[in-house]
Amino acid sequence: MANLRFFDALPAYYGGKRKLVKAIFKEAPPAAQAPVFADAFLGGGAVSVMAKALGYRVLCNDIAQRSYIVGKALVENNRVKLTDMDINRLFLPAENDGFIQANFCPEVFLTKHAEFLDNAMAIVRAMDDGPKKYLNLLLLIKYVFYLRPYSKFSSPNAFNIPMEERRIEWIKNRTYHASIKAALRPIPESLAELARAINAGIMDNAQENRVFNLDVLDFLSKIKADVVYFDPPYAGTLAYEEEYHVLDQILDGQVFEAKKSEFSRKDGIKFLDRVFQAARHIPVWIISMGNAQGQNDLVELQEMVGRYRQSQTYRIKYKHIPAVATEEHQAKNEEYLIIGRPR
Ligand SMILES: C[S@@+](CC[C@H](N)C(=O)[O-])C[C@H]1O[C@@H](n2cnc3c(N)ncnc32)[C@H](O)[C@@H]1O
Repeated sequence: MANLRFFDALPAYYGGKRKLVKAIFKEAPPAAQAPVFADAFLGGGAVSVMAKALGYRVLCNDIAQRSYIVGKALVENNRVKLTDMDINRLFLPAENDGFIQANFCPEVFLTKHAEFLDNAMAIVRAMDDGPKKYLNLLLLIKYVFYLRPYSKFSSPNAFNIPMEERRIEWIKNRTYHASIKAALRPIPESLAELARAINAGIMDNAQENRVFNLDVLDFLSKIKADVVYFDPPYAGTLAYEEEYHVLDQILDGQVFEAKKSEFSRKDGIKFLDRVFQAARHIPVWIISMGNAQGQNDLVELQEMVGRYRQSQTYRIKYKHIPAVATEEHQAKNEEYLIIGRPR
């Protein structure tokens, strides 16, 4: 189940829950009994896309534009796909401000990629608001992740700068081989492959699925649903606003300071109580928690859920992609699911 083809359409999102969907939907009541599924922290979209495939009407939300784009392209959109013409259009010369080249080159992107991305972003920004625009944006996000070693934005000296200066022999670490290949590959060829992957994720579940771009509390106050899934950021793990700062600035077209979400602060878990209060009208809750948070947080979270719902906790072991996780990390890779059901 975790290797479903439609997952290839998603960006390589940090903290993505592709590996957990089986466990999550084992606990969720089926769409026939609980037709509306809410995903309060959409992220890379794995859980919402799975819910869509299982026939729920999906209402998803994320405060970040990078995730909203995924929701527009893959959750709301039931039919529209990317074509070769869409890809060709991204290469038509367009007037642009050279923002990416001026700010992120060569530390993050090589000149040829920065030039392409500046041009393509100008073309996509000028498009009418609709599924095509968001599919194109998702394609560009996936291309950015594809170009970045391990889809991360760090280590300019280990890869990008020597690559820009054509000192490939300096890139000693063999883990960068895939990145060298990606950087040298013709851009249209890479885009065509990524577009195929995106198209494989577009399905029609005969529902009007919706994505919101709100703070979680506003989202919960606006919707009616039968089940809600919560996968919030936690203190002690990478903050999304910092990890994806470059991407967020590219999507916004301007430089700004990263502002850490309240959930990533030291006492972030406290904010979850406000979230739970705002979700009292939704009968079933499913909450994810990674083991990085530790035993104390787990107990606190169980107690918090227990105030509103009858709660049950499940421990799930799974494996990360070997290249990204150390063996030590692998060994203690587990995740908890807390299920809250009406008493
Ligand atoms: C752990 S990720 C979700 C991962 C997702 N389940 C997946 O499978 O890819 C948490 C998400 O919460 C979002 N977020 C942070 N603060 C938020 C807030 N106040 N309201 C809504 N979303 C928020 C972040 O942008 C991030 O995408």
